[in-house]
Amino acid sequence: MNLELTLNGRPWKGEASPSQTLLDFLRAQGLASVKRGCDTENCGLCTVWVDDAPVLSCSYLACRATGRRVTTLEGVEEQAADLGRFLAARGAEQCGFCSPGFLMTVLALRRELPHPTREEVRAYLAGNLCRCSGYTAQMDAVCAWLEVEE
Ligand code: FES
Ligand code: FES
Repeated sequence: MNLELTLNGRPWKGEASPSQTLLDFLRAQGLASVKRGCDTENCGLCTVWVDDAPVLSCSYLACRATGRRVTTLEGVEEQAADLGRFLAARGAEQCGFCSPGFLMTVLALRRELPHPTREEVRAYLAGNLCRCSGYTAQMDAVCAWLEVEE
């Protein structure tokens, strides 16, 4: 199938088989930030945006993206780097395996909920698993970045 979409702000054409996932399609386009974790909609590692909403690309057919805007970490590099530095400075980053999907989710959260409560942050990030952390430092750092009121 021929796909036409907007990828990281640019018009893009590519080919995908009818059963190809968006994750595999994006990696085939050279977008190495899109990672595979569980492949079963559980870890959040493969999160990208479709029309600005976070989706799990391991369970989203590439053909559904035609005519849509798809954004990966490469498309928000500067914002993601700023956020990553902030989290690292607060000791909230460890091996980094979960970072691509996590950063995409946090950036989407900020756009969707400009003034979230801590509980809203927790609920929004519930689908992003981290095998390294106990989540407390991560949650504290994200809430500080989002200026969540205590
Ligand atoms: S790889 Fe997609 S949710 Fe885990
Ligand atoms: S920092 Fe290692 S999996 Fe999240």
